[in-house]
Amino acid sequence: MELRWDDSYNIGVPQIDEQHKRLFAIIDELTIALRQGKGTQIIANTFARLADYTHYHFESEEFIMQRYNYPRIDEHKTMHVEFKRSLAILISRWQDGEMMVNVDTYNTLRDWIREHVTSHTRNADQSLGIFIRLHPDGVNTHRAPEDNDPEA
Ligand SMILES: [Fe+2]
Ligand SMILES: [Fe+2]
Repeated sequence: MELRWDDSYNIGVPQIDEQHKRLFAIIDELTIALRQGKGTQIIANTFARLADYTHYHFESEEFIMQRYNYPRIDEHKTMHVEFKRSLAILISRWQDGEMMVNVDTYNTLRDWIREHVTSHTRNADQSLGIFIRLHPDGVNTHRAPEDNDPEA
């Protein structure tokens, strides 16, 4: 099943909302590749893109948090660090062949990634969005630079 984007995921900061949509799309590609039992090389490549895009996206959010002096920056950054670490562990377990692609592991993997991304987007990122929308500088005044977008 596709990871459906719906507008309740929007945080009201267009640059970040676009990145979240892209992140969802990459997760879908990974889901499809795993389900279809695509070649190891293709799956490894999709995992790598997911990791790269996650890094880029977190950097963008952190740049914005800094620019707006977001008071919960440390807490939010810690969640990003933990997420990146967990994703890296998951990918290396998969690479080491501990997680062979059968229906169960594929479901677990897919659910883990989805759960982490959707709950983070709905909670921590949503709080950031509320803060920015209420900020006197306004939304998108301090956009993150887009030059490092690995999917561009
Ligand atoms: Fe995010
Ligand atoms: Fe975040």
